[in-house]
Amino acid sequence: GNDPGGMLKALWNLPEQCEEAERIAQAIDVNFTATEIKNVMVTGLGGSAIGGDLLRVYAGDKAAVPVIVNRDYTLPAFVDASTLLFAVSYSGNTEETLSAYAQAKEKGAKIIVLTTGGKLGQLAEADGYPVIKVPGGISPRAATGYLLIPTIVIMAKIGLLPDAGDEIKDLTGHLRVLREHLKPAVPVEQNLAKQLATKFYNRLPVIWGVSGTTEVVAQRWKGQINENAKAPAYWAVLPELNHNEIVGFEKPENVLKQLEVVILRDRADHPRVQKRIEISKTIIKDAVSGVTEVYSSGNSTLARTFSLTYTGDYTSVYLATLYGIDPTPVKMIDFLKQKLA
Ligand code: PA5
Repeated sequence: GNDPGGMLKALWNLPEQCEEAERIAQAIDVNFTATEIKNVMVTGLGGSAIGGDLLRVYAGDKAAVPVIVNRDYTLPAFVDASTLLFAVSYSGNTEETLSAYAQAKEKGAKIIVLTTGGKLGQLAEADGYPVIKVPGGISPRAATGYLLIPTIVIMAKIGLLPDAGDEIKDLTGHLRVLREHLKPAVPVEQNLAKQLATKFYNRLPVIWGVSGTTEVVAQRWKGQINENAKAPAYWAVLPELNHNEIVGFEKPENVLKQLEVVILRDRADHPRVQKRIEISKTIIKDAVSGVTEVYSSGNSTLARTFSLTYTGDYTSVYLATLYGIDPTPVKMIDFLKQKLA
């Protein structure tokens, strides 16, 4: 019908998904304490890794230990028994994650697996590690609630983060309001996601985020445009992009005219970065197709960042519709997996 692969339905259900993820994670028993943990690592790829990055930013100004995201077959040398390692794979069959899991086991890390099952689920059960088992049947990138919320809940349970119950409640409430504005029934004149999709159509999206607030959201928008709309997109982060990317808006003029720039802003952006954004806009505006700013909304940091990803999720699905493409299948990822088998 109008929702091949059920992507829109999965998006609609994101608030309920977050609540379910919270319940599932609350029921998990963990037999170690905060004092044993010196760092937290999330290992995974694609849709299963981005939750780790959202956790990293969320925990950035709250946790006393660093959160590191690993997207590789191997783990850094510092990983040891003082590492809390979340091995995250929605399918449970991603070879890089299985390899990293095996290494983490060898290094004696404190492993918690987050998956729908698969090989990773089987191994972890056999090895006696806690398995946070989330429902299957949707795309990994539509399961960000399942793949992010449990990591926050577990970190809070251990005492590595403050209790997140109120933030999660604030998040789900805000997502429920937002989806009423983003859903397919809302016409383009009132629908920000449809408007953004129209801007991106036949253009090259360039998404700018801000370190510590919207950086992962920018990365997520880019990935969602790639995977759902099957189209190219690029992302960069302020203030870093003021030291390189910003120089590249002079040539070639015909290519620059294809760029549709979206700047993702948050009220907690550093004041100097806010000033940088204003100046940067004036530098690029005549060279590119368009510059649009989208502000996050909501109270808590979790609600603001995660709801801004929600807008990007909807945008990417509407862009797929404009291109006449089914957002769900990721043929190229499957092709690579098959070629590597
Ligand atoms: O969203 C997707 O489909 C991909 O980015 C997958 O998440 C990625 O290929 C990794 O697979 P999994 O999440 O099953 O480990």
